[in-house]
Amino acid sequence: MPKSKIIQPYIFSRINKKIQNRTVLAAMTNKQSYDNGVISDDEIQWLLKRAKGGFGIITTAATNVSKEGKAWDGEFGVYDNSHIPSLTKLTSAIHKTKSLIIAQLFHGGIKSPQKITGFIPISASELDCKESSIGKSKKASEKDIKKIINDFTMSAIRCYEAGFDGIELHAAHGYLLSQFLGKKTNLRNDNWGGSLENRSRLIIKILKSIRENISESFIIGIRISPEIESIGIDLNDSINLVDILRKESVDFIHLSCWDVFSKSNSITHNQKTLTEIITGSYKKLPTIISTGNIWSSLDADKLLKQGADLVGVGRVAIGHPNWANNLSNLNYQPKKPPFSVNELEKAKLNKTFISYMKNWNDFVKE
Ligand SMILES: Cc1cc2nc3c(=O)[nH]c(=O)nc-3n(C[C@H](O)[C@H](O)[C@H](O)COP(=O)(O)O)c2cc1C
Repeated sequence: MPKSKIIQPYIFSRINKKIQNRTVLAAMTNKQSYDNGVISDDEIQWLLKRAKGGFGIITTAATNVSKEGKAWDGEFGVYDNSHIPSLTKLTSAIHKTKSLIIAQLFHGGIKSPQKITGFIPISASELDCKESSIGKSKKASEKDIKKIINDFTMSAIRCYEAGFDGIELHAAHGYLLSQFLGKKTNLRNDNWGGSLENRSRLIIKILKSIRENISESFIIGIRISPEIESIGIDLNDSINLVDILRKESVDFIHLSCWDVFSKSNSITHNQKTLTEIITGSYKKLPTIISTGNIWSSLDADKLLKQGADLVGVGRVAIGHPNWANNLSNLNYQPKKPPFSVNELEKAKLNKTFISYMKNWNDFVKE
């Protein structure tokens, strides 16, 4: 029987870096770390278990680049040099396996609650905001934008110093960078708003600044949501954004699809999936990772056939840490949730993470 491409190695061409297979553990917030932003041993063990389970790339949970950008209790941070020693412990442990380790850099913007950060949430514009004591977000000033670029850059430098193989900019799911991209959340009429070129300027400045300040060998990628109607991100903009990003020589673009098999909302593309549309848009593209609702080896194979280079997974890897190692079996069909508390404890989730997973429909067996 032919072997699936998913278990074959993949090379990041710009830096000639090999990954053992085409699997990616997608970023998953797990709330297991300390209030001061230091990553805990529990969070390290959770990631290490998946690295031992054979993933090509391990992505950390979203990690905040500044105090103002924190969105959840128990989120680890990378906004201070005091975070570096524990992060080094993480990368050293992961590098004893064959996985690469990538940090997902993040600022919640309007979704960073004031009760967690102590600051009025900041965004592209002044918007209604439940998380703010004044009911509104603060529109970022030029000075704020400069600080945001610097915070992302300094965080990436700390990741490099801590031994990460690279970073993923979190520009998906409606957090700060996607608030700048969205037509409904970015109401500015200066250089940072209006045209797509202006709305993506913050992301591009951050990418350039990170590239200028860190060794060529560092992997720089970005995660985007190709369609989020509620904040005004549409597919045509996303296709054009991919063009802007490929010209910036990002190493990968990670498409967050939630369900890689569902068709786009866009009428002009309505018979195709987001992955097919994006990968079919340009001849030369950076590495494309796509994620959403993959469970079996067959699902993974189908996603590669849609044009993705690498397959990301979230929930299946919570219950099945060895998911990647099992893919040589073409009939691998891991059990779906709900999982018992005992199963999740064995899979190295601590009590806080397990109780967080109770918010996800039917994930934890009561
Ligand atoms: C518990 C949990 C936490 C998540 N946290 C993040 C996160 O920090 N950053 C992010 O980009 N996506 C996050 N996601 C989304 C996942 O990366 C993934 O895209 C999503 O779960 C769909 O993939 P799946 O169907 O394989 O689970 C999270 C998902 C889950 C289940």
